[in-house]
Amino acid sequence: MQHLWRLGEQYKGEPLDPAQCDPDPFVEVRRWMTFAVGGGIPQANAMTLATVDERGRPAARIVLLKDIDDRGFVFYTNYDSRKAHDLASHPYAAIVLFWEPLHRQIRIEGTIEKVDPLESDAYFESRPRGSQISAIASPQSQPVASRAWLEEKVAEVASKHHEQARLPRPASWGGYRVVPDMIELWQGQPSRLHDRVRYQRSDGQWLRDRLAP
Ligand SMILES: Cc1cc2nc3c(=O)[nH]c(=O)nc-3n(C[C@H](O)[C@H](O)[C@H](O)COP(=O)(O)O)c2cc1C
Repeated sequence: MQHLWRLGEQYKGEPLDPAQCDPDPFVEVRRWMTFAVGGGIPQANAMTLATVDERGRPAARIVLLKDIDDRGFVFYTNYDSRKAHDLASHPYAAIVLFWEPLHRQIRIEGTIEKVDPLESDAYFESRPRGSQISAIASPQSQPVASRAWLEEKVAEVASKHHEQARLPRPASWGGYRVVPDMIELWQGQPSRLHDRVRYQRSDGQWLRDRLAP
């Protein structure tokens, strides 16, 4: 694997200084997200979500960030999935966004809550019908016999609901919100002397400092 030694970007970006950052990290994260989406970063809302299972073992996978509201960071998934079981035993999560062309990373850690069912309904309703059918049909994280089995399941769901203009959101599908108590912005800089600004919530206040790269 020696050739991996030679892989390595030179990073460079605008200086990032805690003194210049907004006191509210949500303002900074929204600003960074707007910049990433406006700059055409593909799947700028794809993020790694880490959870911990009942034995204390971590697991990570990509999910899509679907909302940044006043309380936190929202994604949608299956409430019977592996990650949902993890979150039921340890209601904490960490998420990471990485935008290579911008040499930027955002790390977020906090507690987890389910989003209001009406909010999940509204988002479910906004999805394309095919995605709605898949969400109803797929027992996410369960072993399945074959792709044909899944396709049959999808056909069953489609035919059961074919006269319904609106499909009901299954109870087993909805949103989670990561309510952060730590947010870190990372801006790559030359010679690996990167800028890191960490926000920590303490007694309802956000404190920020600089971390060594
Ligand atoms: C680009 C990308 C986006 C994804 N978005 C989601 C998502 O928003 N929600 C979701 O449940 N799974 C999403 N997945 C699939 C997950 O990575 C994962 O396979 C699935 O949620 C099952 O994870 P689990 O078994 O750990 O619960 C996405 C995968 C990729 C590669």
